[in-house]
Amino acid sequence: MSATAIAHTNIALIKYWGKADPDLRLPLMNSLSMTLDKFYTETTLSWQTSDQFFLNGKLQAAADSQRVFSYLHLLERRLNLPNRHYLVRSVNHVPTSAGLASSSSAFAALAAAFDQLQQLHLSRQDLSRLARLGSGSATRSIFGGFAEWQAGDDANSYAVPIDERPKLDLHLLVVELDQQPKKISSTIGMQRAQTSPFYQTWLERNPDEIAQMKLAIQQADFDKIGQLAELNANEMHALNLTAQPPFTYFEPATMQIIKWVQAWRAAGIPCYYTIDAGPNVKILTSLKNCKVLSSRLAQLMPSAKIVVTNFGPGVKSWSNSDME
Ligand code: DP6
Repeated sequence: MSATAIAHTNIALIKYWGKADPDLRLPLMNSLSMTLDKFYTETTLSWQTSDQFFLNGKLQAAADSQRVFSYLHLLERRLNLPNRHYLVRSVNHVPTSAGLASSSSAFAALAAAFDQLQQLHLSRQDLSRLARLGSGSATRSIFGGFAEWQAGDDANSYAVPIDERPKLDLHLLVVELDQQPKKISSTIGMQRAQTSPFYQTWLERNPDEIAQMKLAIQQADFDKIGQLAELNANEMHALNLTAQPPFTYFEPATMQIIKWVQAWRAAGIPCYYTIDAGPNVKILTSLKNCKVLSSRLAQLMPSAKIVVTNFGPGVKSWSNSDME
């Protein structure tokens, strides 16, 4: 018996950047995201006599598998299930070789595959709470379209769908840069950001930013969504630059793309950017302008990998019989 789940990556338009409780992965603020169609993780889970994790067909060393198995054993304890060993086979489906590896799709898929293997039949709300324990952003990948993850305590911090099938022509142009700089994980990055003198302001602004974004989504106001997303991303990266010690995920190419986006906008093409815990840039624009901007980017920065994405669905899971 084995179980398979597919979960799609999400990109936050109003970001989670700070924890109230690192063990329970409770956020200090609400966040709101868009689930993507082109990037997803497919995970198959079964029981066996020792823990083994294959990622994209390759057996992972114990050190690289630790987060996965600590998570599965944590779920067992929380749900009062017996302690067992697992074979985990995950494949990250990404349209280019570099990929946008994401813990959001990884832990959402793992939570759903666990639920399916154990035949727990959890609600999506409960799945979202469990996904949260693996990685904060995974909380939102249970749902498609737009989802909001609520701050709160262990019982009520989960994501809720806002609109799982938005009609809006909002596409995301993912620009993957060549550089693979030394990474500061999001877990460490958000911890350091809390030392910024602007951190309190970041927290105080969150309820209003969420409310404005929800209104913009409801009104299908593309420009407003873009403006709010870009401002929120800039605020997050300003925290990093003003942390003690300061740091940034930006690389020179990141800055270059920011300037191009600003110039294209000034020239009348509605487009906005958002950036997460890495140098890649995601550009929010319409489908028509995605095509225009991808060809401009391909000329200006031939080494960048460009993927046009749209809204993706929520998590799915199923059981495989022993006949497979
Ligand atoms: C910048 O979910 O990766 O993408 O909970 O420590 O695993 P952990 O962090 P993670 O952080 C995501 C940070 C972000 C913003 C966001 O997705 O909201």
